Amino acid sequence: MEKMWAGRFQKETDSRVNDFNSSISFDARMYRQDIRGSIAHATMLGEVGILTPEDVQAITDGLEEILSELQSGALTPDPNAEDIHMFIEAELTRRIGDAGKRLHTARSRNDQVALDLRLYLRDEVNTLLPLLRELIETLCRLAEQNADTVMAGYTHLQRAQPITFGHHLMAYAGMLLRDISRLSDAEERMEECPLGSGALATTTYPIDRARTAKLLGFRAPVANSLDGVADRDFCIELTAALALLMTHLSRLSEEIILWCSWEFRFIELDDAYATGSSIMPQKKNPDVTELIRGKTGRVIGDLVTLLTMMKGLPLAYNKDMQEDKQAVFDAFDTARLCVSTMTPMLATCRVKKENMRAAAAEGFLNATDCADYLVRQGVPFRDAYKVTGGLVARCIETGHTLETLPFAEYHAAHEAFGEDIYQAIALDRCVAGRTVYGGPAPESVLAQVAAVREKLTGEKV
Ligand code: ARG
Repeated sequence: MEKMWAGRFQKETDSRVNDFNSSISFDARMYRQDIRGSIAHATMLGEVGILTPEDVQAITDGLEEILSELQSGALTPDPNAEDIHMFIEAELTRRIGDAGKRLHTARSRNDQVALDLRLYLRDEVNTLLPLLRELIETLCRLAEQNADTVMAGYTHLQRAQPITFGHHLMAYAGMLLRDISRLSDAEERMEECPLGSGALATTTYPIDRARTAKLLGFRAPVANSLDGVADRDFCIELTAALALLMTHLSRLSEEIILWCSWEFRFIELDDAYATGSSIMPQKKNPDVTELIRGKTGRVIGDLVTLLTMMKGLPLAYNKDMQEDKQAVFDAFDTARLCVSTMTPMLATCRVKKENMRAAAAEGFLNATDCADYLVRQGVPFRDAYKVTGGLVARCIETGHTLETLPFAEYHAAHEAFGEDIYQAIALDRCVAGRTVYGGPAPESVLAQVAAVREKLTGEKV
């Protein structure tokens, strides 16, 4: 195929350079956005009198035909083309002749690709957000069902204080809500249109950048043409938001892996979301969650790729920037896949409430409540803390829990203890008493669920 830029050259490009240079294998997925952008560009060129109405019509019809053929599979991108932009323009020219050659007037692939990528990523965000909302709603439903499921809360992975499973799940709902807000926020900054920036310095043609921006649903054109073609901060921001989202999913995955273990036995995954072993007949493995945890590394890698790729680039466009697409596409593909697998897996898991409760009954989770009891009797907290520490040591020595330790031991440790200490340290009481805003008490969990749902149905989170 003759190169579009063949005029300047005396030699054919080495075939290895052709392959090396080509991005069509990964940018072909932007064909819809490329065609949308070209139609808007041609429309504007027609409106300001740079193209005749006939040319605009031929271009628009031709591009729409190409779009529907690409969609149906009747036309496939030529792997030998340099990129999707060159392919579509060449295909258009093959079909409509000279009008096709006029499409690229007052445009460069540099503003074209900067536009296509923004349009593509806008669509990606709009696909991912509903999936994330669904995941959050699944967490809410599970939390509602487990608003009073007592469970051990951990710090340092050591049993710390009693909470409810619903409370634990709603922590993730909060994180994911912020992920939605980060993605929407980054998308909002992407609402500026680079088209018309040209290669770097706009054009002497009287193009109307505000018009193309409007036609393509942008708030405004990018205010500086160099900035329009030279930055990829939108890719970086979005990938950073995705890396963080994945980090949240990875932490939840890690917990699910622990909870499924024989040591915890807090939940059991549905058979449809677990896998077996080729040799060990007893195994039921949480592969899905392990893969999510593993794939988080990829997305973090994508972010590092983008930052490293950009950090030394002089303005404006540099070919290095072609590398942006694989990284940001991979980040979106991975996050989309992980979110949409996590949701049904969580929705179908079985919660073993008895085991959660049993684990919360051991490990002195109520020690803080025991100290708090003394504080209510007028003992300063530090003293109460020390006395309780002594009681825990006694329990360990004598094989007791705070619930089974004889009252004589309490009385010997501090005279402020009354027989009602046993009620004060009862597990349900310790949980139910934590009605503070944002706490683990069942009513507080239900309030959290309601608040999250309200945010989810709102325009913005
Ligand atoms: N395939 C290129 C990319 O993804 C399109 C822009 C090419 N521009 C250029 N001046 N070579 O970045």
